[in-house]
This record gives sequence, structure tokens and C-alpha cells, in this order.
Amino acid sequence: MSSIGRFIPLFEGQFAAYCEVEHAVATNNGTSALHLALLGMGVGPGDEVIVPTLTFVATANAVTYCGARPVFVDSEPRTMNLDAAQLEAAITSRTKGILAVHLYGHPADMDAIAEVAERHGLFVIEDAAEAHGALYKGRKVGGLADAGTFSFFGNKIITTGEGGMVTLRDAGRTERIRLLRGQGMQQDRRYWFPVVGYNYRMTNIQAALGLAQLEQIAQYTAHHRQVAGWYTEELAPVAGALQLPVEAPWARHAYWLYTVVLGGDVAVERDAVMGGLAAVGIETRPVFYPMHVMEPYYEGRGRYPVAERLSERGLSLPTHVGMKREDVVYVAAKLRRLCGL
Ligand SMILES: Cc1ncc(COP(=O)(O)O)c(C=O)c1O
Repeated sequence: MSSIGRFIPLFEGQFAAYCEVEHAVATNNGTSALHLALLGMGVGPGDEVIVPTLTFVATANAVTYCGARPVFVDSEPRTMNLDAAQLEAAITSRTKGILAVHLYGHPADMDAIAEVAERHGLFVIEDAAEAHGALYKGRKVGGLADAGTFSFFGNKIITTGEGGMVTLRDAGRTERIRLLRGQGMQQDRRYWFPVVGYNYRMTNIQAALGLAQLEQIAQYTAHHRQVAGWYTEELAPVAGALQLPVEAPWARHAYWLYTVVLGGDVAVERDAVMGGLAAVGIETRPVFYPMHVMEPYYEGRGRYPVAERLSERGLSLPTHVGMKREDVVYVAAKLRRLCGL
């Protein structure tokens, strides 16, 4: 059967070892991994989970799927991640946990987050969809909290086409997540469903691809860092006008995407810069819209000013394993010219 096969437990075992955790559960995408991780933590209707407003929509939607409410916090301007200093103000009697995101590959400040979580008895999940191989104080992301989640979508650092993974230390929660992943079918009793589960399984073929990708992950992550290093060399002279990605002293950035932010001195609009780059064959992408400006989560503008600025002025430059130094030099030169720098 396609979702039963030897590559699935192999991929799970090797990915768990890679993340330095005891357990991993493979899923059909990163969004289902988030949903299962939240369910594994017992999130349900009426609960609140704190998430950064600046993230991909799946982070917030997974909370909504549980019948819970995502409560947003603003971003820290340099790393673009959830600002741990603002967590306390977002906590209410309904708060169950914190879902931190390692945006674009830079790890969130997990110790600062854990400190607040411990004080209030909250769980912490890492959304590491964009951060395979990133390190926080020398430890791999995905192994820093109660659970971690990954995406293996086609544009990620390693891919299975579509795919995801939950990483955990706790055996009981792992069992619960495995049960929910496979329609809720009891392991030792075929077609017996003690709970309402989901069809969130990864196929054996995808797991085989994942194993092959995992063999290459060291080269892939090294190349992402190499590309980032080249960009930083080329753009360093204009680092006052363009905010370049930072690497906090405690972080090893995965540089899934090299993301820059136009500073106040750059008179051109971000979208005009993107248009100019597209005209010479360079595909870029805007930083995500913050959750609180879109219909399902609308709170009006102005409440999370840092996330709004990053979203309006930020763009991700091409960052992939096929890039050579001359490609980076070309992109950086065009970007500088379009920004008038
Ligand atoms: C931060 C973040 N979370 C979750 C996801 C969801 O992953 P998937 O697309 O595999 O469902 C993604 C990416 O796609 C993401 O970037």
C-alpha cells in the first residue's frame, strides 16, 4: 500500500536523528504537520495560541483548524521573527501555547520564548518549515521545544514534492499524532476508529525521495549559506540603505531565502523594484502579508508596525542550490541600480 512501506519509518528515523530528537512523524505537508502538532498538544475550541503576525498563512490556519484562535504578536525588526519581549502582553487565561516560526531560516529566540512559556505553563511549538538545518546555540531547530514541524514542499531546502514532518521527544504525544494522522485507526485493530482522525499520511514514494534528499542536506544547507555570503559581500557597501539579513550571535541561519528590506533612504517602492528585476529575468518574492491585514484575521492596520513595514518593504532574492557566484553578482548589481544605490 502506498502509505505503508519501509521508507516511511526509515525517513522518520533518519529525520529524527538529524534533528536530534527521539521521534518524528511524516505527514503529507507542513500544514498538516502543524495541525497535528497542535492537536498533540491538546489544543481545542476556545483556546488561544500565540503566533507571529508575520508568517505564512498556514501557521495561523493550523490554529484555526483546531477551533482555537491565533493571537498575534509583532516582529523583531532585525531577524523578522516573533518579538519575545511582546509575548507577555498577548497572554490571557485562554492561552495554551506559543507557535514560534523560524522565518526565512533564521531561528527564533527560543530561550527567551521558553522563559515566558515556563512562567505561564504554556507549550511551545517550532514552525521550522523554512529552516531545515538552522541552529540555535548549536542545537538543531525542530528539537528545541515541545514539538517542531517541517515542510518538504517543492521550494523548500529539502523536498518530497509535498510533505511534512512533526519532530518530538515525548512518546505519548507521538502516539497520539500517529493515531490522528492515519484516520484515527487503532494500530492493532484494522478498521477500528476510536477517534475522528485525518488522512495526513506521507506516501512511501515521498519518503524514499526524502531519504535521498536527506543524504544531500549538508551540501544543500552549505550552498544556501554560500549564496547568502556572496549576496552579503555584494550588498555590504549599501547595507545602510538596504537592511540585509542578520545572524544573531546565537544563530546559524539556514538562509532558505535571502531577504532584504528597503530602508527609508530608498525612494523607490518595493513593488517597483520587484517589477524592474522581473523585467530582466530575476524572480523575487515579497515578504508575506502579516496575518492581521487579511480578511480571516483582520485587526486593521497599525497594531503591529514592525511586521507591516517588513511586509511592505521586504523582498526575498533568488536563493537556491543552482546559483553560482556570477548569478548573485548579477542580481545584486541590478538590485542596487534599481534602488539607486
Ligand atoms: C512558515 C511556514 N509554515 C508552514 C508552511 C506550510 O507548509 P506546506 O506548504 O508544506 O503545507 C510553510 C510553507 O509552505 C511555511 O513557510
